Amino acid sequence: MQGSTVTSAGSPRRPRLHQLAERVGGIEALDGPAEAVAARVRGKLGPGPVKDALSGSWLGHALHPLLTDVPIGTWTSATLLDVFGGRRARPAAERLIGMGVLAAVPTAVTGTSDWADTTLADASVRRIGAVHAVANTAALLLYGSSLAARRRGRHRRGVTLGLMGLGALGAGGHLGGHLSYDKAVGVNQTAFSEFPEEWTPTVAEADLREGEATRASVGDVDILLARDGGRIYALADRCTHRGGSLADGSVADGCVTCPLHGSIFRLADGAVVRGPAGAPEPAFDVRVDDGTVHVRVGAQSA
Ligand code: FES
Repeated sequence: MQGSTVTSAGSPRRPRLHQLAERVGGIEALDGPAEAVAARVRGKLGPGPVKDALSGSWLGHALHPLLTDVPIGTWTSATLLDVFGGRRARPAAERLIGMGVLAAVPTAVTGTSDWADTTLADASVRRIGAVHAVANTAALLLYGSSLAARRRGRHRRGVTLGLMGLGALGAGGHLGGHLSYDKAVGVNQTAFSEFPEEWTPTVAEADLREGEATRASVGDVDILLARDGGRIYALADRCTHRGGSLADGSVADGCVTCPLHGSIFRLADGAVVRGPAGAPEPAFDVRVDDGTVHVRVGAQSA
């Protein structure tokens, strides 16, 4: 191969803080304790209305990121008042810290529920999530202690504890951002899938059995085909929650259940019947031509 040049792509250098988060994701020693805690949480918090409420299924997307705004906003504002607000701002800073402490409790509960859904296949996500939780718990303890110190009249100590809390909050926030924006945790897992808008052939109608899920490919994506009550339905195969394969799930009563965390989607339109998924599953129009099932993405899912 004289004269030919081969270049291989190198890894782009990422910012230091990004590398730090990735290093946290590589700490294998976290796996044992993390799985033990996650299994306990999953045991206490099975599929059902409480899990749906914590996951944000009623909201259409994850609830936890929304709640984080309150402790982050109130604690950051309190520390800014400590630094720039002078003596007159002390009562306001104290109230803000108290509000943040109250808001941190549901925020932590929703985050723990989401984190427990990570699997060992998501090892780095689980490890980063565990350290994210530890950092935020440290922030809660530090701001709680700051509040207690202020109430005892030890303002300077309260400010110092608040500054330390802000440091822990920043570390936890960075790892949380890494989980969302680099690891796509909490993101609709079909958001970037490209589905066929024209009728596209899939499998022979005769291959679909009543009550069984079948996987088929259309272009670059997999879909789930299911015959239920004599009708044929098609949904995206990739679960919107954490990417489980719905074709590996079970079909019954006009719905499919994801094998990973038990989300239930209606076959007719992909609606979430039970969480923890928040986003509905993309659904397809179906028609049979010459014994072959054809699909195209439905108007609601396009
Ligand atoms: S991947 Fe979690 S319910 Fe489907």
